[in-house]
Amino acid sequence: MIRIGIVGTAGIGAKHFAALKKIPEAKVTALIDINAEPAQKLVYGSKDITVCSTIEESLAFVDALYICTPPDSHRDLAIRAFGAGKHVFCEKPIATTIEDASAILECAQHTGLMLGVGFNMRSRDSYQRMKGILDSGVLGEPASYWCMRLGMLDVPFNNWRVDTNHIVGMTIESLSHDFDTIRWLFGEVESVNAHIIESKLHPRGFDDNAHINLALKNGVKANIIASWSSYLGKSSRGIIGTKGTVELMGDDTWNSNCLRLKLKGAEETNIQELQESLDPSAYIGINKDFLTTIQTGIEHVPNGIDGLEALRISLAARESAIHGGRLIAL
Ligand SMILES: NC(=O)c1ccc[n+]([C@@H]2O[C@H](COP(=O)([O-])OP(=O)(O)OC[C@H]3O[C@@H](n4cnc5c(N)ncnc54)[C@H](O)[C@@H]3O)[C@@H](O)[C@H]2O)c1
Repeated sequence: MIRIGIVGTAGIGAKHFAALKKIPEAKVTALIDINAEPAQKLVYGSKDITVCSTIEESLAFVDALYICTPPDSHRDLAIRAFGAGKHVFCEKPIATTIEDASAILECAQHTGLMLGVGFNMRSRDSYQRMKGILDSGVLGEPASYWCMRLGMLDVPFNNWRVDTNHIVGMTIESLSHDFDTIRWLFGEVESVNAHIIESKLHPRGFDDNAHINLALKNGVKANIIASWSSYLGKSSRGIIGTKGTVELMGDDTWNSNCLRLKLKGAEETNIQELQESLDPSAYIGINKDFLTTIQTGIEHVPNGIDGLEALRISLAARESAIHGGRLIAL
């Protein structure tokens, strides 16, 4: 049994809590939050979970800590967790600067403890199906990848996402998922150019629309159109290969409602109906993978390097946008 403390219990922390409850090898023993309210809400009715206000109060009864707090707090919390000998699952983005991400990574390597990063798309059935089709070779040589993800991010005025002291914007916070997915599918990115828009005047730094082109080292070209301010929801992500095309479609940024596959010479398009959304079940896979990582010492989840590389792409996209869409080599 692996004993887990969740640090940050409101949004994604609550989803991990619900997902971990469905995994027999895991036991959430501590909920840690600077604001006791969301933690108390989750713990309601359970006598064997302790609510704490610092990770230090939880150390006696946890083996691993989940860092589910705003991105600029990840470095401090992760390093304190490693320093106390705990494995760390850190939500994406791993950090907001290369310096902070590298410090987390170095600490994991120095202590020999496990570090998982919350790129859950890799563990979702729909994305695994798409990767399975790519890896099977039926698409031939992959040439292009596209990602159109549109939705509306509506957060209360006091949320860290719109607080000028903590703001990171969509390109760092949310597109880190898509940069990781692209690396997972095709390998390393060679160069980036981007146009990034802040469609709201306040607060500054809240980028919410992006047009990004990526050139991969294996020759594939990838393109992302993303919005956090679209009144229509949509997800379309797909691969065009020399012998076939595959697409994952959904009615909102993260939903997968169907997979379409058309191969060269085939008359029919193969359509698989899916019902995947970002409910807590979307996080069961990545949690199981992290527990396996701890149990076996063999990495089954995106790790610190994946976190660092996704952040590097986000920062390069932002740099490109500042310079009018200039090509940035990675
Ligand atoms: N993988 C995913 O699908 C996914 C989805 C949403 C958010 N996230 C990531 O998870 C992280 C948290 O986002 P969220 O939407 O859950 O935020 P949130 O605001 O909903 O929740 C954050 C919680 O952390 C607590 N907190 C803040 N600083 C703390 C500290 N120093 N110690 C203890 N508790 C602290 C807050 O009180 C709050 O309860 C971000 O990095 C975000 O990008 C990942």
